[in-house]
This record gives sequence, C-alpha cells and structure tokens, in this order.
Amino acid sequence: MSNALHHAIRLPTADDTAALGHWCAARAALGDCFLLSGPIGAGKTHFARAFIQSLLNTDEDVPSPSFTLVQTYEAPNFEIWHADLYRLTHPDEVVELGLEDAFSTAVCLIEWPDRLGQGAPKSALSLSFSAHCEGRLVLAQGAPRHELALALRQEWAAHAK
Ligand SMILES: Nc1ncnc2c1ncn2[C@@H]1O[C@H](COP(=O)(O)OP(=O)(O)O)[C@@H](O)[C@H]1O
Ligand SMILES: [Mg+2]
Repeated sequence: MSNALHHAIRLPTADDTAALGHWCAARAALGDCFLLSGPIGAGKTHFARAFIQSLLNTDEDVPSPSFTLVQTYEAPNFEIWHADLYRLTHPDEVVELGLEDAFSTAVCLIEWPDRLGQGAPKSALSLSFSAHCEGRLVLAQGAPRHELALALRQEWAAHAK
C-alpha cells in the first residue's frame, strides 16, 4: 500500500501544533477524516481549534465538544464535524450522532476515536499525540489520500525525530 503512512512529527510548542492544524486544514477535502488520539491534555482540541479557525472567516469560538459530543461548522467548501467521543459508551451511539453519514458528507475531526470501534473510515488519517520533552510528538498513521500522505511526509520531514 503505497500511501500507508507511519511518520513521526515533533511539535516543540503549542504554536507548532496549531501550525500542523492550519496545514492540514489547507489541504483538507470533503470526506477526509482526522482521528486525534492521545491522553487528556495532549493537544487534540488545540489542533482541531486551529484547523477549524483557519477555515472560518470569522473569529468564531471553537469550544471543546467534550460535553456536546459534536460541534459543527460551515467552512467555505465543506461542513466540519468536530467530535469528542470520550463520553460514548457504545459504538452504536456513533450512528445516533449521525457521524457515519458525516464521514462522507463532511470533514471530520474526531477526538477519542477508539470509541468508534471498527467504525472509522479506512482512509482516515490518524494523528496520535504524546508528551515529548516540553512539547509533543505526533505519530501520523493510516492510509489517507495519496497527496495528503505524500505532502505530510515531505513537508513535515524536518520535524521528524
Ligand atoms: N506541541 C505542544 N507543546 C506544548 N504544549 C502544547 C502543544 N500542543 C498543545 N499544547 C497545549 O496543551 C494543552 C492541552 O491541549 P488540549 O488541546 O486541550 O488537549 P486535549 O484536547 O488533547 O485534551 C493546551 O494548553 C495547549 O496549549
Ligand atoms: Mg480535547
């Protein structure tokens, strides 16, 4: 599988996490799904907020969806679904939330994607955040669109450690 990705990205500061969010947003297309995993405080919402705000024309507030489970936004070219599934207890609830449809009709940013069970799209880009020195390390994995995988490998190569 030529677009299978396994790429480490070093993010020394919170601004670097935001820069990765902006970068992904600029390349996102309808149907893309970003799975954001890692412990509480790892930077998942920080990434998602930067991603969303860079595509909205206003300074719209981007709250963590930890209580609402899903927040949606209208970006110029697609709808964005930002979900935090921490509180889900059963994968069936994913269907009730309408997430399955959103995988094909929107761009999805999913925190705590392990709650999806086997329900994540095959082409999702998985970004696993972990603490690293004072900053974070992100492991980018999956088999996303070829252009996205290639660009990520090339343009974030300098950040790999
Ligand atoms: N690369 C980084 N280096 C240092 N701090 C970071 C980095 N990325 C994000 N943070 C900080 O981590 C904190 C928690 O982030 P948050 O996105 O709320 O976590 P999560 O959604 O994973 O629980 C934020 O205060 C953010 O500024
Ligand atoms: Mg969060």
